[in-house]
Amino acid sequence: FTAQIDVSDTEKGTYPHFMLKEIDEQPFVMRRIIKEYQDENNELKLDGDIRAAMQACDRVYIIACGTSYHAGLVGKHFIEKIANIPVEVHVASEFSYNMPLLSEKPLFVFISQSGETADSRSVLVRIKEKGYPALTITNVPGSTLSREANYTLNLYAGPEIAVASTKAYTAQIAVLAILAVDSARAKGLSLDFDPMQELAIAANAMEILTDQKDTIEELAKNYLATTRNAFFIGRSSDYYVCLEGSLKLKEISYIQAEGFAGGELKHGTIALIEEGTPVIALATQEEVNYAIRSNVQEVVSRGANAMVVSMRGLEQDDDAFVLPHVHELLTPLASVVPLQLLAYYAALHRDCDVDKPRNLAKSVTVE
Ligand code: G6P
Repeated sequence: FTAQIDVSDTEKGTYPHFMLKEIDEQPFVMRRIIKEYQDENNELKLDGDIRAAMQACDRVYIIACGTSYHAGLVGKHFIEKIANIPVEVHVASEFSYNMPLLSEKPLFVFISQSGETADSRSVLVRIKEKGYPALTITNVPGSTLSREANYTLNLYAGPEIAVASTKAYTAQIAVLAILAVDSARAKGLSLDFDPMQELAIAANAMEILTDQKDTIEELAKNYLATTRNAFFIGRSSDYYVCLEGSLKLKEISYIQAEGFAGGELKHGTIALIEEGTPVIALATQEEVNYAIRSNVQEVVSRGANAMVVSMRGLEQDDDAFVLPHVHELLTPLASVVPLQLLAYYAALHRDCDVDKPRNLAKSVTVE
């Protein structure tokens, strides 16, 4: 892993594409986040005002678009499970025009790689008019969303150039985990794990995964080289990663891809399964492992070409890919890496412009 050593942040160096470079940078970004959010005693360090805002609110409203929205879904999982604070996650463009009934003391959390997304900013303007506090989680300190919110948490991912977001997504998840842990501690809740150590383990897992490019390229060729569509299924936090995996695939390979909750299959989507339809299933959550495995059986018996991505400790013999073990809350940090690489190699083998996919912009500054 040399990306941080011989390549400047805005150059590709020896990499054929920014996307591949940015995927490879993820373990390094994790370690930088761990460093930035730790004090000299290796204790988690967060702005006291942000801690106070989290303690003062009765509900967190996460607002974001695209990949950042998907990170927000994982963030909800963290904040509710770890810090016991209710969270709603909203797509910014919907929230602007169809605002839900708000709780008495909401805290708004904007997640935006660029900090410039117009749909998110429109919500920020509206909630500021109402006098509600806002925290922006962004990769660009000094961006519009950062300047206009009360508080900012930085992602420290370095410039992200490829249109398809990768390292910003995992950075957002890591920072959301830190926010959740800090809030839990401030509330006096005890944790049965060391968050920084678990993040470091996740960083190591990501490094192992980025070293398995040949295996993943082979899977991309076998499952995705010629298909018109593909489905991703998962349960619990695996479902959120499926949404991101399918977004990556559609953004850069133009394969029609959708992520579904495993249990929803039988309520409609299973009608689309034909002989050879690729179905990528994530199985990293012990609690729902049995259930997702039976969903895989359901699609296989209807002819699907199923690829199971599981985790060490939960694997079965014919799983296509097994992730190193990471803490059950942090599995998205590991499981998204092969999905990013699958999308990358699928796009490459279909001669698509990986870094600049058609019709998409890195930052969308119009509503
Ligand atoms: C655009 C990009 C996406 C990104 C979304 C939100 O649509 O193409 O990759 O996820 O904007 O961007 P943000 O900068 O707010 O995270």
